[in-house]
Amino acid sequence: MLNMRKAAIIGCGFVGSATAFSLMHQGLFTELVLIDVNHEKAKGEAMDLSHGRPYVDTAKIYAGSYDDISDCSMIIITAGANQKPEETRLDLVQKNVAILKTIIPEITKRGYDGILLIVSNPVDILTYAAYCLSGFEPGRVLGSGTVLDSARLRYLLSEHLKVDTESIHAFIIGEHGDSELAVWSSAHVAGIPIHDFCEFRGHFCHHDAMENIYQNVRESAYEIIHRKGATYYGIAMAVNHITESMIRDKNSVLPLSTLLTGQYGLQNLYMSVPTIVNQNGAGPVLELPLNEQEQSHLQQSAQTLKKVIQTLDIPQR
Ligand SMILES: NC(=O)c1ccc[n+]([C@@H]2O[C@H](COP(=O)([O-])OP(=O)(O)OC[C@H]3O[C@@H](n4cnc5c(N)ncnc54)[C@H](O)[C@@H]3O)[C@@H](O)[C@H]2O)c1
Repeated sequence: MLNMRKAAIIGCGFVGSATAFSLMHQGLFTELVLIDVNHEKAKGEAMDLSHGRPYVDTAKIYAGSYDDISDCSMIIITAGANQKPEETRLDLVQKNVAILKTIIPEITKRGYDGILLIVSNPVDILTYAAYCLSGFEPGRVLGSGTVLDSARLRYLLSEHLKVDTESIHAFIIGEHGDSELAVWSSAHVAGIPIHDFCEFRGHFCHHDAMENIYQNVRESAYEIIHRKGATYYGIAMAVNHITESMIRDKNSVLPLSTLLTGQYGLQNLYMSVPTIVNQNGAGPVLELPLNEQEQSHLQQSAQTLKKVIQTLDIPQR
C-alpha cells in the first residue's frame, strides 16, 4: 500500500538536495528517501538535512536504495547532468535519457504504484521517455514542465505592475526551454485583461514590455547559470508546490508536462499546458483559448520536441 506521506528523490545534486530542503520545510512528508548513484553524496545530504529535524515536521530523511521506494506516493527524479554555460536543455538529452534508462527499470521491477515526477532536463523529453520506459498510465508520469517558468513570468509581471503575484494569472506553455511561449491573450490580473491592467498602472508600451518580460523568463536559466553555475532554489520551490497540490488533493491547475492526446491538435508527446493535478496525478488537460500567433508558436514548440523524440533510442508507446 502507498504511504501518502513518503517520497523519494533520485539524484541528490543541487536540485535534488534543494528539493529535499524545501520538502522538509513543507512538512507534508514524514519520510524522505534520498537516492544517488553516489551513495556517499546522498548520505552527506541526509546527514546535513537531518540536523534540522528539531525545527521541522518531516520525521525521517535518509540515504536509501531502490528497495525503499515501493510504498512511496511519489518519486521525484532530479538525476542527471545539468546545463553548462552556453548549453541548451536539449543538449542534455542523450546523457540524461541514458541515465533514465538505468533508473526506470529499478522502479518498475519493484512494482511501484505511485506517481513519477520528472524534473531533470530536458524535462518534456525525459518525461516522455519515462512514460515509454515505465509502461505506467500517463497520468502517473508527469514533468515539472513550465511551472517554474510561469512562476518567473508572474514574478516579473508583479514587479512591472506592482501587484501581488497571487493576483496574476498567466502561463508559460510549450517546451520548458527555448521554444516556450507566454499566453498573453488570456493573462489577467484579478479578472482584468493584462493589457488593461497595464494601462491602469500607467504602462502603455504593451508590446515592448511583454516581449521584454518574455525574453527575460526565457533567458532566466542562462542568466543564473552564467552567474552561479546552476539553478536550484526556484525549481525546488516549484516542485514543492506541485507535490503539495498532489498530496493535499487540491485539483490545482498547473502547467505540468503532460501527455497530449489530441488537445491543441497535438498527440504523442509530453509538453507543458495547464493540467488539473491531484493525488491521482495529472489530468485532465485544459485547452486554453489561444490566438493565431500563440497557436502557431505552440505548434512550433511541439515540432521542436517531436524532432528530438524521433532521435530517442527507446521503445515508444
Ligand atoms: N525542470 C527544471 O525546471 C529544472 C531546473 C533546474 C535544473 N533542472 C535539471 O535537473 C537536473 C539536475 O541538476 P543539478 O543541478 O542538481 O545537477 P547536479 O550535477 O548537481 O546533480 C545531479 C545528481 O544526479 C546524480 N546522478 C547521476 N546519475 C544518476 C543515476 N543513474 N542515479 C541516481 N543519481 C544519479 C549525480 O550523482 C548528481 O548527484 C539537470 O538535468 C538539470 O538540468 C531542471
